[in-house]
Amino acid sequence: MAWTERQQSMLQAMGLRVWSPAAGTDAQAGDEAAVPEALEPPQARAAPAAPVSAPVSAPGRAGQTADRAPAAGRAAAPAPAAIPAEAAAAPSTLRAPATGIASPVAALDWPALREAVAGCRACGLCESRRQTVFGVGGARAHWMVIGEAPGEQEDREGEPFVGASGQLLDRMLAALGVSRDAEDSEPARQVYIANTLKCRPPGNRNPAADEMARCEPFLVRQIELLQPRIILAMGRFAVQALLRTTDPIGKLRGRVHSYQGVPLIVTYHPAYLLRNLPDKAKAWEDLCLAAATAERAGG
Ligand code: URA
Repeated sequence: MAWTERQQSMLQAMGLRVWSPAAGTDAQAGDEAAVPEALEPPQARAAPAAPVSAPVSAPGRAGQTADRAPAAGRAAAPAPAAIPAEAAAAPSTLRAPATGIASPVAALDWPALREAVAGCRACGLCESRRQTVFGVGGARAHWMVIGEAPGEQEDREGEPFVGASGQLLDRMLAALGVSRDAEDSEPARQVYIANTLKCRPPGNRNPAADEMARCEPFLVRQIELLQPRIILAMGRFAVQALLRTTDPIGKLRGRVHSYQGVPLIVTYHPAYLLRNLPDKAKAWEDLCLAAATAERAGG
């Protein structure tokens, strides 16, 4: 089986190299697995990416602006995966997880929420941050990416994922045909990016449980206001916060979860992928699953 053009452009976008007879790379004849660009020992070879069946078409919407994302870069859909019934339809309302504590944040609109985040002093991270990092992307975006916490560059620039992992994230998103800068495009091409924590943990240490808990109402409200059609949770802190589990990513990825009725796909954090190139192939499978799920959820 040969990779389709669409599959190849997605793999390339993620920095994966594919063997093809025409390209004449150094991979073994007949080896169709995606191979990370960097050299890797044979035992570290990633599993072949899941075969794909049908291309994911752009879910067009009447009366909206033309698509600016490159069609060739769109993800191809993998074999259908089960989507929980409640996740298949876009929810009209979302509720915060039942913590038993009513949060005043739950009533805020976008500008008020941004202001509340900017002035937050609920945990010690406010002492060391340069600024808060709220989120970026179209407020009508169908896609939502949730990462961990700002790093040094994000703390400096006030925008999530602007460092090295952000560049990989942008390539992954481009492979899906969505962008943080696509506010003039149809919502299906837009992604909103937010973090679990809005302030940088000093020295990029892991988020602490109490910091996550105090920051959570902001993320919950962002999700409520956005009402995404699909959530891509990247890395263990985002996944743990959203799914209330301590299971590792490896155990959770590969199926469709649900957050308050919104389909949620678990995948590796881009910073992890930069250090673990073989797992890029798995992340590609996750993106395929996300693309197919978004298509079926109407977005
Ligand atoms: N890693 C994240 O999880 N978020 C960012 O904004 C930057 C790096």
